[in-house]
Amino acid sequence: MNNKSIYVTKPTLAPLEEYFDVLKGVWERGILTHNGPVVQNLEKQLAEKLNINYLIAVSNGTIALQMAIKALDLKGEIITTPFTWIATVSAIKWEGCSPIFCDIDPHTLNLDPKKIEELITDKTVAIMPVHVFGNPCDVNTIESIAKKHNLKVIYDAAHAVGSTYNGKSILEYGDISATSFHATKLFNTAEGGACITTNNELYEKIQRIRFFGHNQSKDIVEDGFNGKMTEVHAALGVANMKYYDDVLSDRKKKYNYYHNALSPLNFLYFQKFEIGEPNYSYFPVIFDSEERLLKIENKLNKEKIFPRRYFYPSINTYTNIVDYQKCPVSENISKRILCLPLFWNISNNQINRIANAFNDH
Ligand SMILES: Cc1ncc(COP(=O)(O)O)c(C=O)c1O
Repeated sequence: MNNKSIYVTKPTLAPLEEYFDVLKGVWERGILTHNGPVVQNLEKQLAEKLNINYLIAVSNGTIALQMAIKALDLKGEIITTPFTWIATVSAIKWEGCSPIFCDIDPHTLNLDPKKIEELITDKTVAIMPVHVFGNPCDVNTIESIAKKHNLKVIYDAAHAVGSTYNGKSILEYGDISATSFHATKLFNTAEGGACITTNNELYEKIQRIRFFGHNQSKDIVEDGFNGKMTEVHAALGVANMKYYDDVLSDRKKKYNYYHNALSPLNFLYFQKFEIGEPNYSYFPVIFDSEERLLKIENKLNKEKIFPRRYFYPSINTYTNIVDYQKCPVSENISKRILCLPLFWNISNNQINRIANAFNDH
């Protein structure tokens, strides 16, 4: 029996020779950064693939979130979810805003739109929901609340490349979406990310912010910083683009295979997809108790299988960084959720090995 370790994720990597082919051009030109031709090529290919208008590639997803806040000139309270990666909240704080936590829906795992309005004050400037594990948020309800209260919407779409709603990329919803191309993401450039908007003025402003605030004539016209993606990172993205469709369809198949294997277990439940089509980029399972999660995690680890407690703990409980705000659903779910290994070309045999550990615990 193949007893090799299985980790929660594994980066999608095009064959090395194909990466070299793109890098060769970088070496020949001697241009490593400053929005070079490979970054521009990657932006164009991604925009075409996702059928979106304006995509600005940047150095990582956290910077993309900060740039989105900066581009919208936000100062004040931003309503967000506690069930996320710390970067959502650190981006808000680094831009001088305050995170206000809205509890989540226990099934979609996204911020619960029914709980937004009670959190709005005269200091609220925006809503920043996360498409958790690539599951599209209820964008229509969020948009109508934002319109009613004159708020901006930034989606943390770090997980959501490939997710759609109404036949359209989920990245085109909100004033700006910020995504991540980190090594662990469905599409990766090792480190990287992007801002996406449908507004031409914001598109141009974000480009200036990315490049120290320069305009086309190199005058400093904006309070910018360095958000540039390098040619070396973009080259990995261009090489990986060739496999994008395959990765996306493989994820869905493997997600369904896992689901079939584990759905008979009555102590588990799964994230619910209510709106649009997710990208199936993660396979989270929610246990009936933390005790059972720890027991099964321990068993999996003994069998050299390493899932990840994600997101854990709920961010509203990080009291060294934020003031505690009660979010009972998120606090409860985060103790009972485990993301199982899922990556490009994980085999059915590997999934069977993982599922077996659940079956006879
Ligand atoms: C929900 C969420 N937001 C933001 C980020 C930040 O992205 P990055 O790691 O590219 O900075 C992550 C990252 O991994 C994430 O999971």
